Amino acid sequence: MDHFEIKDGVMHAEGVPLTRIAEEAGTPIYVYSTATIERHVRVFREALAGIADPWIAFAVKANPNRAVLATLAKAGLGADVVSGGELMRARAAGIPAAKIVFSGVGKTAEEMALGLKEGIGQFNLESVEEAEMLSEVATSLGLTAKVAFRINPDVDAGTHSKISTGRADDKFGIVYDRAVAAYARAAELPGLDPTGVAVHIGSQLTDLTPSRAAFERVGVLIAELRAAGHTITTADLGGGLGVPYNPAVPAPPSPADYGAMVADVTAGWDVRLIFEPGRVIVGNAGVMLTRVIRVKEGKTYPFVVVDAGMNDLLRPSLYDAWHNIRAVEPNGDTFIANIVGPICETGDTFARSREMDKVEAGDLVAFMTAGAYGATMANTYNSRGLVPEAIVSGEEWAVVRDRQPIEALIEADKLPPWL
Ligand code: LLP
Repeated sequence: MDHFEIKDGVMHAEGVPLTRIAEEAGTPIYVYSTATIERHVRVFREALAGIADPWIAFAVKANPNRAVLATLAKAGLGADVVSGGELMRARAAGIPAAKIVFSGVGKTAEEMALGLKEGIGQFNLESVEEAEMLSEVATSLGLTAKVAFRINPDVDAGTHSKISTGRADDKFGIVYDRAVAAYARAAELPGLDPTGVAVHIGSQLTDLTPSRAAFERVGVLIAELRAAGHTITTADLGGGLGVPYNPAVPAPPSPADYGAMVADVTAGWDVRLIFEPGRVIVGNAGVMLTRVIRVKEGKTYPFVVVDAGMNDLLRPSLYDAWHNIRAVEPNGDTFIANIVGPICETGDTFARSREMDKVEAGDLVAFMTAGAYGATMANTYNSRGLVPEAIVSGEEWAVVRDRQPIEALIEADKLPPWL
């Protein structure tokens, strides 16, 4: 459920008509709903009601805007970060260091030192090599790092190949059969306190079976590690729960279904569970608002050319992702069209032969479910300034990231001395 609804013929974000935001801040622009974000936090928490003291660490990569992170900090969430930059953004938004988990396959010594000095709650390590480096960095600072190893459970999550992470040949985690040896090595390293196990098999998961299989493997490993003398106090189950993008296909399992499955599998583990939800918290809490530049005649269907491009919303081009595309002021008619951006490549196609609200030049269009992996993946391809973001709360709204002026792009380039 979200708070983007048509009222008096105009789509609103909570109490604010999207037409007003477009007029005052221009398009394209991302618009987030505070009430929706807060609702999703509540629903996720309620789904975990059967689990003692869950540590919910929002996956910052899904939406690192400071206003969004501050909203989540206020709601009591921690953060899952995968870079020094995400760590600093989470801290700047007021997320306590102790609630931060540092994931990621390529942490550098500098990033490790940053996390150690900040005093983050846990490092999720992806290799013995990384464990050795972290131990060195920690001892040089006179600190000890609480660590988990992310294991690769060799489970196919059944999602898009580019966002599957738990198959044996994916780059993530340590080989399951070598996990016990990895913990033995970590226990010898002076700067580490190996107290956790972590797993994450992919994103936009629409079936709980692979997650259950992966979690069961974590349970077996915890027992093996304890038998080998390790003290395991946390299990990080990652993120990945899918959200409904297309109202015409069956919805993914609900947070409640997910929570019940987790409670069932983890009963008796006697650890603190960590969750790293991203999309399920912010996905449906954002839209990308764009204006139709023109409707161009096509051979079979017309092309609706909007002022947002694949640089602003990469998901359809990268993952063939399906976003619902709706008129902000629908007139009741529909048509079949191709929706494209202004960028000079065919990949800049948001939807082909899509039945949608009939729109014409000048109309506003909303790409739904764009709050996760939208603005955060935007870039400046075709020399387009980074897309701005706004957030709504009730009747109020504010721009929380300005549109990047083209002058900023020009000034960022430096000429070499010979030119
Ligand atoms: N934890 C780890 C270690 C992750 O790698 C991810 C996502 C998450 C948590 C959060 O997953 P979520 O709950 O949001 O599914 N750009 C892609 C998604 C990439 C996800 C990467 N990792 C997309 O637009 O679909």
